[in-house]
Amino acid sequence: MGGGGETIERAAVVGAGLMGAGIAAHLANAGVSVLLLDIVPTELPEGASRSVLAEQAVARLLKSDPAALMHKRNARLITPGNLEDHRDGLAGVDWIVEAVVERLDVKQQVYARIDAARRAGSIVSSNTSTIPLTRLLEGMGADFARDFMITHFFNPPRYMRLLELVVGESTDPEKAETMRAFADERLGKGVVDARDTPGFIANRIGGYFLQCAMVEAFDAGLAVEEADAALGRPMGAPKTGIFGLLDLVGLDTVRYVGRSLAENLPADDPFHAVYREPELVTRLIETGFTGRKGKGGFYRLNTEGGGRVKEAVDLATGEYRPAVKPRLAAADAAKRGGLRALVESPDAGGRYAWRVLSRTLTYAAGLVPSAADDLTAVDEAMRLGYNWKRGPFQLIDELGASWFAERLRAEGVAVPPLLAAAAAAPGVDGAVTGAVAEAGGAGPSHGGFYRVEDARLQYLAADGAYADVPRRPGVLMLADVKLRGERVAGNSSASLWDLGDGVLCLEFHSKMNALDDGSLKMVGTAIETVMMEGFSGLVLYSDGDNYSVGANIGLGLFAANIGLWSAITEFVEGGQQAYRFLKYAPFPVVAAPAGLALGGGCESLLHSDAVQAHAESYIGLPEAGLGLLPAWGGSTQMLGRHTESKRRMAGPMPPIAGAFETISMAKVSRSAEEARELLFLREGDGVTMNRDRLLADAKAKVLALADGYAPPEEPVFRLPGPSARTAMEIFVGEFVNAGKATAHDAVVSGRIAEVLSGGDTDITEEVSEERLLELEREGFLALIHEPLTLARVEHMLATGRPLRN
Ligand code: NAI
Repeated sequence: MGGGGETIERAAVVGAGLMGAGIAAHLANAGVSVLLLDIVPTELPEGASRSVLAEQAVARLLKSDPAALMHKRNARLITPGNLEDHRDGLAGVDWIVEAVVERLDVKQQVYARIDAARRAGSIVSSNTSTIPLTRLLEGMGADFARDFMITHFFNPPRYMRLLELVVGESTDPEKAETMRAFADERLGKGVVDARDTPGFIANRIGGYFLQCAMVEAFDAGLAVEEADAALGRPMGAPKTGIFGLLDLVGLDTVRYVGRSLAENLPADDPFHAVYREPELVTRLIETGFTGRKGKGGFYRLNTEGGGRVKEAVDLATGEYRPAVKPRLAAADAAKRGGLRALVESPDAGGRYAWRVLSRTLTYAAGLVPSAADDLTAVDEAMRLGYNWKRGPFQLIDELGASWFAERLRAEGVAVPPLLAAAAAAPGVDGAVTGAVAEAGGAGPSHGGFYRVEDARLQYLAADGAYADVPRRPGVLMLADVKLRGERVAGNSSASLWDLGDGVLCLEFHSKMNALDDGSLKMVGTAIETVMMEGFSGLVLYSDGDNYSVGANIGLGLFAANIGLWSAITEFVEGGQQAYRFLKYAPFPVVAAPAGLALGGGCESLLHSDAVQAHAESYIGLPEAGLGLLPAWGGSTQMLGRHTESKRRMAGPMPPIAGAFETISMAKVSRSAEEARELLFLREGDGVTMNRDRLLADAKAKVLALADGYAPPEEPVFRLPGPSARTAMEIFVGEFVNAGKATAHDAVVSGRIAEVLSGGDTDITEEVSEERLLELEREGFLALIHEPLTLARVEHMLATGRPLRN
């Protein structure tokens, strides 16, 4: 590992509550063994374990949803204990994370006990969200201070990518670098250095934003749905908007963050002007309406009388009423004209959006350099900690920094120095744009805080000069590649990029990366390009949230509805051929999925020489749920994988049954680790924890495979034919009889069984991949003629959910 030279292999977490347990789980996800300690409860029932708190925490982790553990077996890496009997264990770990209740006195007591037990030089950190590092260290010695820092995780620790790192004046810089590298590479976090100021970066801005947006909505007389529609999607924030987010976080937690900011921020901080708790909020909290974890919040699901009615609180009367889908002129304007159209919209929604956004962005601009070293840290913190698509400075760039500053001045608002500098920068507002936006992950931009110079993305540093946006070694962003060079080839669904060092990248970029003719065409062009232009190999990749949701079933449904069967046949054949070429090409192909890799997306993985998967990869073949079967070679490749892995088991049935189970039950992994178990990943396939490192890792894998590369040999199968098919049909028939599967499920799995058993063959005959592909095609085409299959496809497209029919 890079960094300070030390590594972290064993850790301890003290405090097994919500955060402590989640952090322990994520450390286990990273393969680190963890000691999880809590107190011995004062009133311990007879016979109860003295480590009951930590033990219960592990039990909760195993049941959590979304799962805190990437694989249930990771729980074995967590050893529950208590601070009295197992304190000695602290001597054996490299890092101790404190995640006990947010009370200074308790934390200080805990540090004294930790310090007496730990080995000299081990790192100690606090997960505090509000207490300054200087206060935490009061009364502790110099050695402790050298090893101490704040590591502020966000909830839930597995899924939230932000880690704010706060180091003190006395913290050993090498230790800080060890932590930075560990959290980045092993835990996959986006580490943002924050100053030791209240709320650090994300909660300071996020807390301001939520407070401001909440009270402004009350003052403006807006409905909660209107506020959410104005400030969710249009500004690139999650669609929960304001009130949905307040419910999600919990009104009591929001109160807590608000109070702590109000208590700790200096008297002249603009936060105080927006801070107040509306009476309605007090009442909601006091009556148990704390949000989703309580009886409901600003929204609730009313199940009285057996119904399921989504309701929202009327902010004026405090009464629940059925929720409505608001029609907001401002949100419509934003769809057409972007962020500036949103805040210039003359309706109440537009005025509200301007009030909240202008104040929040101005507040954020005033926090550099007091709370953050530079503006990139602020943007990163809001992207990773609050899931904003664009950080505050990117949003200002999108509005146009000088336009924004001008409008503030016109309203008599003081313009923070950094914003004034951006507004005065040469060429701002309309000079650089698309490229800047791309590289920063934003929409159209007018420059100001970011610009592109010599094909590099730069930002306005605190000294008023532009500096390159820093990337840690081993981080390769496709957006940066795009700044550096022209695309090699492309269409509206996919593009080819030169990653350097002889590696070509095929990027999917259609909506949700649904694969269509254009995507398949580009697979062909990629193969040609690698061979004709002397590349060493190919990476399959997407910068989006999802690698690919699979073949575009909307197009398939359309063709089926108008009886264009030949188009469907061609599409199936085209996919089979493209993937076969990928598999047997004379150069290495590495697929690098993140997020969903389903159906045709999964099949591209199955045909690659190797996969480098992001840890959060959800891989599977869900075709059966749509009444179809994997027909771009997926059924065939899964059979091949099960044949290899079950080589030592007797008879032809185990591999067939293995592939049958995975495909007919439409299994999708909930992590890369689970995908390995389902054989979507193989032994040599790698997993990258940090999303920003995925592309570089995949490129390195291509280069490692390129030396002396030989394509795989084509396998020959020996399959039992009809007898195996019948066995599987009987098996499924029992499920149908028990009411656990439908008659159409039996039809679909019968077709899958037909492919996997080799069709009309017996164990003495050889069956080629080509023959299996033919069976896939026949099965697929038969199924897509079925009205019940089409109903499933239609339902999925309309609702995003599978239909059981
Ligand atoms: P929690 O209340 O769920 O858990 C606190 C745990 O500390 C409990 O299991 C309690 O038994 C244990 N504890 C209390 N006194 C102790 C002692 N003397 N020695 C050992 N353990 C002791 O609290 P939560 O939410 O997990 O918060 C923990 C820390 O993480 C706090 O500093 C909080 O500010 C911070 N934090 C919380 C976030 C959240 O979303 N809840 C987010 C980020 C940070």
